Amino acid sequence: MQELTTVKTVHEEGSWLFTVRNQYGEQEEFILVPCDDSAEQRSTSSRPVADDGVAAWVNRCTHEAQRFDTGRGVAIRDGQLICPRHGSMFNACSGDCDNGDAAGTTLPSIDITVSGDGTVYLTDDELTFVHEGGVDEDDGPDSTSHISF
Ligand code: FES
Repeated sequence: MQELTTVKTVHEEGSWLFTVRNQYGEQEEFILVPCDDSAEQRSTSSRPVADDGVAAWVNRCTHEAQRFDTGRGVAIRDGQLICPRHGSMFNACSGDCDNGDAAGTTLPSIDITVSGDGTVYLTDDELTFVHEGGVDEDDGPDSTSHISF
């Protein structure tokens, strides 16, 4: 088990971006987001959902290669992640999208576990936690990544 952060931190900061390395040595970004789904919705979801108020999703829209968190946190409203490019909204707990350009898709997830004291662990055997924050690369200035509400 690889320690990531705490449920409290995810809720306080709104989202938590981190980088993992897969079995091919490639780095990929994921996000932890607050998930306040009801137990009923959770039991009917086929997706892996954390029990204790957080869910983990890939930091990339299913429509185009657009990050949800471009360095300023994920835009979330009413339990929905909002894609900054075309505005499709994804359920923060199920990862499902039923609107806009990404309609009919579900975000890829990874296995996380929340311990009794609220610590979030990465429990996906094929992934190695690299560090908090995004993949290290020279992005350069990106004038198109502003998120506005
Ligand atoms: S890139 Fe996300 S909806 Fe188009």
